[in-house]
Amino acid sequence: MSGPGGLAPRRGPGAGFSAHSHITGLGLDENGKAKRVGGGLVGQEEAREAAGIVVDLVRQGKLAGRGVLLAGPPGTGKTAIAIAIARELGEDTPFVAMNASEVYSVERKKTEVLLQAIRRSMGIRVRERRRVLEGVVEEIKFIRRKSPLSPYPTIAGARLVLSTRDDTLELRRLPPEVAVQLYQLRVREGDVISIDAETLEVRKLGRAKGRGKRLYDIEVEREVPVPEGPVDKVKEVVRTFTFHDLDMSLAAQRAVLTGFFAIFGGEKEISDEVRKRADEIVRKMIEEGRAEIVPGVLFIDDAHLLDLESFGFLTKAMESEFAPLIILATNRGVTKIRGTDIESPHGIPRDLLDRLLIIMTRPYKRDEIRDILLIRSDELEIPLSTEALEKLSDIGEQRSLRYAIQLLEPAYIVAQRRGHRRVEAEDVEEAARLFHDVKETVRELEKYRELMLR
Ligand SMILES: Nc1ncnc2c1ncn2[C@@H]1O[C@H](COP(=O)(O)OP(=O)(O)OP(=O)(O)O)[C@@H](O)[C@H]1O
Ligand SMILES: [Mg+2]
Repeated sequence: MSGPGGLAPRRGPGAGFSAHSHITGLGLDENGKAKRVGGGLVGQEEAREAAGIVVDLVRQGKLAGRGVLLAGPPGTGKTAIAIAIARELGEDTPFVAMNASEVYSVERKKTEVLLQAIRRSMGIRVRERRRVLEGVVEEIKFIRRKSPLSPYPTIAGARLVLSTRDDTLELRRLPPEVAVQLYQLRVREGDVISIDAETLEVRKLGRAKGRGKRLYDIEVEREVPVPEGPVDKVKEVVRTFTFHDLDMSLAAQRAVLTGFFAIFGGEKEISDEVRKRADEIVRKMIEEGRAEIVPGVLFIDDAHLLDLESFGFLTKAMESEFAPLIILATNRGVTKIRGTDIESPHGIPRDLLDRLLIIMTRPYKRDEIRDILLIRSDELEIPLSTEALEKLSDIGEQRSLRYAIQLLEPAYIVAQRRGHRRVEAEDVEEAARLFHDVKETVRELEKYRELMLR
């Protein structure tokens, strides 16, 4: 077996975390000490430093099959810290984030949802020799076609000329899959790219040395030397994919062999047999020294929503041969384990709790709330007056940080309608008058219920 081809490139964390887009990392110095403000995070130093140790342990592969619990009141940054951990681990380490409620799906069994999440969070790094087309883009031209389905012309192909120091290759008509990637990666003349001849995956390696910068490029681009030798060549490449990618590719191969093309839409169940085979392949590749395991992280938010069966499954999964680090988060104290009458700390069964390292997040002090609001408003490009910031900090302290953050955007709309160039305290007050926090709505509704019962 030549190694798993045809695997889609793995996507890093990022999607679905817009409330946390300001977070770039844990904000620790080289000794692992938390800066008061760093990586988009404020305060919560102890939790961040503990998270930093978790990151080191993951990198050394020492936490595989273990667990971490992030426990703390609502809005104290548990999800934020988990995302910071993912950012610190980088692209090559799989990180899967899910909410515990996702296990209750109509189409799939709970254990299947969890098993798939586990396999998505386990990486395999392989070294393989692959045929690639690699060189500097000398010319690029997209072929567009008008489609009856869309008002815009779609990309139907591309013409590309690649060169190295020694060779030039003209590709007259690249297929649409490749053309679309070239378009999305904003590939221009002077970029060094590679195209995998088998998977058709396009990679932008950087800017060719000596080709000058682009006119309006804000990102800092990496400069790379102009490649040597032929454009079309066989080369050793290192790729990371997940156990789930491998499962899918094996299942798809099987589907092709047996003629069931249509069943693999992505979310269908994968058979145990396929997974066993995937494990065997990985084991063999490791034995032959062609691959290594990259244990990643599976983050399960609102873990108290898991039930006994799910917890049991996770506990068992943690003991298996290939297991990621499992990070759970919860804002519950002692509560019933879902679906039972058993009370347990954080709604988590004792035997699992005993295996978890616990990181605690604490309520914020006022100056921390103010700094978090500043970071958020900066990220959202919302200018605040000093008074507005103070007002919002009051609200954050008295009601909740989350509520104060949520008021930022409505307050900006109010300010714009009133012709203010930045948000003033009165705009915040108006937004707070129109939008309510949970404590308030609950109090009101309870009052009505009493009235109704009278
Ligand atoms: N220490 C922090 N520094 C900067 N931003 C923070 C910090 N803590 C929380 N935030 C921001 O405040 C908001 C709420 O935090 P987050 O969602 O992480 O809380 P949580 O502890 O997961 O709450 P819950 O228990 O309700 O799930 C998010 O937008 C988050 O990015
Ligand atoms: Mg959360």
